[in-house]
Amino acid sequence: MCGITGYVGTGKASRYVFEGLKKLEYRGYDSCGIAAIDDIIRVKKDTGMIDEIEERIDLSELPGCIAIGHTRWATHGGVTVENAHPHLDCSGTIAVVHNGIISNYKELRKELEKKHRFTSDTDTEVLVHLIEENYKQNLEEAVINTLKRIKGTYALLVISSEEPDRIIVARKESPLLIGLGDGGNFVGSDVSAFLAHSRKAIPLDDDEYAVITGNSVEVKSIITGKKLDKDILEIELTEKAAMKEGYPYFMLKEIHEQPSTITSAQNIYPEEIRTVAEAMQKAEKIYLTGAGTSLHACEVAEYWFSKIAGKLVVAVDSSELENRAVVDNKTLVIGVTQSGETYDTLSAMRFAKKMGAEIGVIVNVIGSTATRFAEYVIMQSSGMEVSVAATKTYTSQLSVLLRLAIELAKLEGKDVKVIEKEFSSIPDKMRQVLSIEDEIKGKADSFFNVSNYLFIGKGINTPTAEEAALKLKEITYLHAEGMSAGLLKHGTISLIDENMSTIAFLPSDSENSAKMLSNIQEVSARDGRVLIISQGKVDEDEFISLPDTSEVLSPFIFSPVFQLLAYYVAVKLGRNVDKPRALAKSVTVE
Ligand code: G6P
Repeated sequence: MCGITGYVGTGKASRYVFEGLKKLEYRGYDSCGIAAIDDIIRVKKDTGMIDEIEERIDLSELPGCIAIGHTRWATHGGVTVENAHPHLDCSGTIAVVHNGIISNYKELRKELEKKHRFTSDTDTEVLVHLIEENYKQNLEEAVINTLKRIKGTYALLVISSEEPDRIIVARKESPLLIGLGDGGNFVGSDVSAFLAHSRKAIPLDDDEYAVITGNSVEVKSIITGKKLDKDILEIELTEKAAMKEGYPYFMLKEIHEQPSTITSAQNIYPEEIRTVAEAMQKAEKIYLTGAGTSLHACEVAEYWFSKIAGKLVVAVDSSELENRAVVDNKTLVIGVTQSGETYDTLSAMRFAKKMGAEIGVIVNVIGSTATRFAEYVIMQSSGMEVSVAATKTYTSQLSVLLRLAIELAKLEGKDVKVIEKEFSSIPDKMRQVLSIEDEIKGKADSFFNVSNYLFIGKGINTPTAEEAALKLKEITYLHAEGMSAGLLKHGTISLIDENMSTIAFLPSDSENSAKMLSNIQEVSARDGRVLIISQGKVDEDEFISLPDTSEVLSPFIFSPVFQLLAYYVAVKLGRNVDKPRALAKSVTVE
């Protein structure tokens, strides 16, 4: 799990690559480095965050018009300078950066160690020594011969001082896009790496490689060696999306964007939604699959499909789909993935495709891998999300999934006017919730002063409770669990003491809220402290009162509350909110 980027052209390459790495830092931030060619290859790399490294060693200052760079999230080998990329061959004439995992690196290393000097513990280093081994007079040929011996996944950038006008890039199951610029060309793990300089991108597909010079790009198949005609993607994203606009953290900015990102999801063309709803109507079995926050969106939607459309749709953790699901050619599998690059979700989709299922995806990132092999693609249109903890992309996923449930219900002849009307009022209700931010911050100060938390909900807010616990864990490093209120008494309640506080999501008057009140009593009776986040009136000391909606739409109203609570607790604890330790925005490894 890492970010890689490169530039070749007439400009100062290390500067472009540094800028690109900063944009990719969300993909990993334990170390980074750049290699540039002037007459020789020079490498600068270190551990830590990019800005710290820049301050220490002037990372962006390397001579030359061709450079490659890497920001790392450690997989093979600890966080050390030696393990940071780029890696060099023995002669110091070839440099490589790599995102992915080389699964046969142990055998290859054993073989190569007889002749080559290894300086790191990474799987990547075998690549550069194998390229060195294969290098006769042609870098392209050496890379291709190397890839034929490699098992695993890669997005790869290779440069050599013997051929200082080109970057050889290749891709298998790790994302890579080429950016076409004036006076130079770019390459990156996603478009944000070069968006400031290029709005035209060529996404590479699996088993493709490219030779990139300052004024040419040639894409070929790794398998046949044949030249390929690739479509050029015009990117509409603006760079503004990657600015904080006065907010101290991206997360806070992104939480506040939700009324408008939900509106964007509400404005997705009805035909796009209808096509997928029709496929759902036809399918015998339907699975929604995702990881982390995206999985929670799938779980909320499972309730919507059952309650609104009367259709059984099963939400499955994408890392478990292959173990759990019954997939055949009458099955529709819809991946839900903000990045479109999560390894587990892509694997689940690939598995389902192999079993003959139809594949759909709800995705945010343009040109991402998931968009390239699904039959049905719905772009959720949330704009770039920079903070590692997902916020606005969660409520956008919810919006798309709700629209699908409503559309499917319509196809089934059900009357959905009431819910459609209510859904259109959600952005305004969300604004009302955001207007009580100070009150929510107050609760983050006064209530969150122990080290363990239970989040409880019922029905459609069981996944709300799970997502709330995930948000708190991700950015505060406090322990939290989310579960259905009913489950609490079957074991977990024994944990209630002065060190374990409970947060309950209580929707407007409903059967579920009445039942939850008795679960809350069970906690209070054991001297457990409870904060109630409620849409109705409650007779408790600790509560936050929210605008009313029907229970089925309450996940939208609860979301900004638990996001803001997690945010303010993290700020109070002095955490790096946008870049929590050990996490990455998209995990592209197994
Ligand atoms: C990582 C991130 C989570 C995210 C999950 C799924 O674990 O840290 O925040 O929810 O991946 O990401 P996706 O891009 O597939 O939605």
